[in-house]
Amino acid sequence: MKIYIVGIGPGCKEYLTLKAVETVRDVDIVVGSSRALELFDIEENRKYILSKNIVEDLKKIIDYSKRENKSIAILSTGDPCFSGLLKTLLKYSIVDKDDIEVISGISSIQVAASKLKISWEDYHIVTLHGKEENRKLLLELVKDNKKVIFLPNKNLKDDVKYLIENGVDVNRKIIICENLTYPNERIIECRLKDVLDLELSYLLVCVME
Ligand SMILES: C[S@@+](CC[C@H](N)C(=O)[O-])C[C@H]1O[C@@H](n2cnc3c(N)ncnc32)[C@H](O)[C@@H]1O
Repeated sequence: MKIYIVGIGPGCKEYLTLKAVETVRDVDIVVGSSRALELFDIEENRKYILSKNIVEDLKKIIDYSKRENKSIAILSTGDPCFSGLLKTLLKYSIVDKDDIEVISGISSIQVAASKLKISWEDYHIVTLHGKEENRKLLLELVKDNKKVIFLPNKNLKDDVKYLIENGVDVNRKIIICENLTYPNERIIECRLKDVLDLELSYLLVCVME
């Protein structure tokens, strides 16, 4: 029985790797959000859609695949090793490191860097996604005028309010990369204070210099 954690890239089919497509084609069960599963042609009887209760769902389906000796691919957005499902699976001891193979995917950070034509090794990379405690780190970096690429927490406006309330200039520039690779992709360059008036989705990568 084999467990694959498969990176699916930012969300558009063209950004899937051949390795991801072939792995998904060859396994017995494919697990993921509806958004992730839609990227592949998978027969209904091989699909398992994750609910909001991700940890419980993953435990259940992995137990089942072990019992029935089925191979399984767990789909993870972007790259599984950045703010992705790999951490969840290991943190909650849902899988053993030795039992899994991780298939890397194109991270939303990489796509944002390519859209903006910037070299991401020049930037500090921070995720606030499920990690509100990293806001303090972001604040220190921004106050220090470091270049930062960050994934916001659920609501970018809250993160921006935090920065402003803690002394960051309301006129500091921010670039917001929204819905990357989707038809409704937007790149918005504005001041921090303008973010508070924007209608944004949750798929955001932000850059501050
Ligand atoms: C759980 S994290 C996963 C990050 C992922 N592992 C990666 O490497 O991109 C989910 C967050 O990634 C960012 N993200 C993922 N896909 C995106 C896209 N197509 N456009 C913009 N941001 C995206 C958003 O900030 C989203 O809330």
